[in-house]
Parts: sequence; structure tokens; C-alpha cells
Amino acid sequence: MHSDFRPTMASFIRNSHLSWSVLVVLCMALLVSVCEARVHRGKGSGFVRTKGPNFVLNGSPFLFNGFNAYWMMNVATDPSERMKVTQVLQDAANAGLSVCRTWAFADGGDKALQISPGAYDERVFQGLDFVVAEARKYGLRLILSFVNNYKDFGGRQQYVNWARSSGVQINSDDDFYTNPIVKGYYKNHVQRVITRVNTITRIAYRDDTTIMAWELINEPRCQADSSGRTVNVWVQEMASFVKSLDRHHLLEVGMEGFYGDTMPERKQINPGYQVGTDFISNNLVRGIDFATIHAYPDQWLSGQNEESQMAFMQRWMWSHYQDSKTILKKPLVIAEFGKSSKDPEYNINKRDSYLNAVYRNIYMMARTGGTVGGGLVWQLMADGMASYCDGYEITLSENLSTSNIISQQSQAMSTLSQLLRIASENVPSGKNHKLQLDHIKGRRSSKTNHHHHHHAHNQKAMP
Ligand SMILES: *[C@@H]1O[C@H](CO)[C@@H](O)[C@H](O)[C@H]1NC(C)=O
Repeated sequence: MHSDFRPTMASFIRNSHLSWSVLVVLCMALLVSVCEARVHRGKGSGFVRTKGPNFVLNGSPFLFNGFNAYWMMNVATDPSERMKVTQVLQDAANAGLSVCRTWAFADGGDKALQISPGAYDERVFQGLDFVVAEARKYGLRLILSFVNNYKDFGGRQQYVNWARSSGVQINSDDDFYTNPIVKGYYKNHVQRVITRVNTITRIAYRDDTTIMAWELINEPRCQADSSGRTVNVWVQEMASFVKSLDRHHLLEVGMEGFYGDTMPERKQINPGYQVGTDFISNNLVRGIDFATIHAYPDQWLSGQNEESQMAFMQRWMWSHYQDSKTILKKPLVIAEFGKSSKDPEYNINKRDSYLNAVYRNIYMMARTGGTVGGGLVWQLMADGMASYCDGYEITLSENLSTSNIISQQSQAMSTLSQLLRIASENVPSGKNHKLQLDHIKGRRSSKTNHHHHHHAHNQKAMP
């Protein structure tokens, strides 16, 4: 069609008496509806992936706020208790939380998933099926861990004990990382979980986009070799094993973030000791898609005051952020942090200001160019779960001040995610986004307050 027959936008407006301001409103409405469509589409479908130091979902930046709830499979094993899982997932979704980290292991003992090497309790596996199906229903993604460093729910100790009791020569729990029989048990478990077909959704775990990532081991530590090399060899072998079974899901180690021997100058960031991991080399392993740190100055620097603990947390987070960005070139997740109410000096304000400070860092790091994808607070619970409590528990429906802080962070991360998505798709109006980003930055830094108090106790997972 010749252009003469088609009115220009300007003449259309003149002729139809539409004003420019109406047009601007229309364009904005269009932009909003396009964005909403993207947010919706992003919610259910697609694997979370990484692109350089960022998480992406369906090609767009994926930032999140999340939580830990290690107990979910254990509780869901008893069908009459399942409403606790549902309640927490529902409350979490309402608070804007979108990632949950939980255990896909219970080795030996009470309510064992793996009763003995290769022998599984179908009832417990169906508990895990329920957790995965429920997470899908509420639009949450899961990070599933394969084994514990500690003896809770079996862990390394149970694996080496199984080997010992079948006549294998075992020196210590650290043989977990090196003994071929024990490594075989572990690989078998990994394979059982990854190839499991969910009895509720009928989706194989390895095809399920509800699962964001696998975790090799919760908080690996190895006394026998503090350099990080023993753990590194194990991570190399297990990462390539996981990737041989599942190329779609992301994989992370499960590290607390302790530095080892590859960059000796970084060791001064450690809280005074090493644990046999090396944040740099372990996370550089091919097949490890993103790095994690945990942040428990209340345990690691118990005996030091609140101010030094806060200062440690700042150094710990910024150092790992820099390394993830410049050396690893992989995303970083603050996968555990919290504050225990068992400390004699505890009060709710101290917990809230610690969470606030961690959240503010996460937000600032995500805002200045990705790398940090989000944080997972330790830990959410439902009512009536006293036997699962460790002092760090938060019940969203009851602990309202904390719940508000969590919701605000979810909101901030989700807004940031949308703004980065729009910016990355080059929709014109970059100036406005810059303004909105500055606005959010200002709002968040003004709401953070610090409380400096003495703090001295050690509750969870002593080194
Ligand atoms: C959370 O709420 C419960 C129920 O009101 C209360 O018993 C508990 O002490 C609260 N937790 C914290 C950390 O304040």
C-alpha cells in the first residue's frame, strides 16, 4: 500500500482529536500488558539456567527470594502431616518466595528414604514426590540436596558405616570422599533420585522444571585435608556423574564458602579456620553451575559482639560476590543465613536486623550487574513442629515483623527482575528504568537499621 493512503500517527491523532497524552497512556498500558504476559509465561515453564554470572529463565534474568525447609520430605512421609508442607509452601508463595531448598536424603534410621545402600522406602519417596508436586502447584522451584555432611538424617557417617559393616576398611568419615565403595553408594543414590518418576505428577525428576538445581552435599567438610583438594577431586567426579544423567538441571556443591589453598590471601576472610573446602577451585569445577555461601557469624564468631559479626558478614558476602563475578564467572546464591533464638542475648530485633542487612546486600549485588541471584533464609516452619526446631525457625503466619521483611525483599527482587528483564529486552525507556532503580535503591537503604549488641553462642552445626 502506498504511504499516501495511510495516515501518519501524527495526522491520525490530529484528525481523531486524540491527544499525545492519551497516546502515551495507551503505549504505557501496552508495555505493562506485555510485561505481565512475560512474567506469567516465566512462572511455570522452563528450566532455570545460567548465562555468564546470571540466572535466566526462558532467556530473561531470574532473581529470587527463597528459603530453606529441610524437613519437608520427612514430614510429608506421613500423609496426615502433609498439610504442614502445603501450608508453608502456600504461605511462602504468598510472601513472594519462589525457591525452596530441601533434603532429598534420609539415610538409615527413622523414616529413612534409603534404608540401606540401594534399598528405598517407597512411602518416604512418595513424601518427596508430594513435596515436588506441591511446589509445582504453588509455582515454587526446589533445590534438592543429595546427602548431609553431618550425621543428621544419616549423612557421610551413615555411608561409611554401611561400608564398614559390609567389611570395607574405613579409617574415618572423610573416607566418604575417597573410598570407591562409598562413592558407589552415593552415585547410586544420586541416580535413584534423578531418575525417579513422580507418582503424583508422573513427571520424571530429571525432566521436572520445578527442580531448579541439585546440590551434591550439604556443607561439605573434610578434616583429613584442609587444603580443599580431596573435596575437589570428589566434586569433579560427582559433578560429571550428575551431568551424565541430567544435562538440564543446574548443579551446585552445597558449600558454606570457606576458602582453601588455591588463593592463600583469601584465607584471611575465613572466620579463623579452614574446613577442607576451597571456594575458588571447588566452584571452578566444570559442571558446577553456580556457587553458594552460607553466613552464620553467630556460630562461626560466637563470642564476638554483634558489631564484629555484622562486619564479618559484610566482608564474607562482598568477597564471595567479587570472586564469583571476576574469577568464577558464575552466579552466587546466599544459600543459608539466619539467627538463632537460642542465643541468650537473642531478641527479635537482632534477628530482623541481621536478615535486613543480608537482604540489602543481596539486593545491591543483584542490582549492580547480576551475579547474586538471591538468598535462602534458614528456615521456615509450620506450627506444631517443635521437634524440628533448631532456634532459627520462622513461622510466616506468626512471626510478623520477620515475615514483613521477607515479603519486602521478595517484592524488591521481583521488581528488580522485571526491570532487568525489560532493560535486557531493549524496550525503549531506559531512562525511566534508571529512575525506578534509583528509587528502589533509596527506599531500601533508608529502611535498614542496625542494632549493635553483644552476641555469644553457638547453636547450629559446630565446626
Ligand atoms: C514466632 O512466633 C511464635 C508464635 O507466636 C513464638 O512462639 C516465637 O517465639 C516467635 N519466634 C520468634 C523468633 O520471635
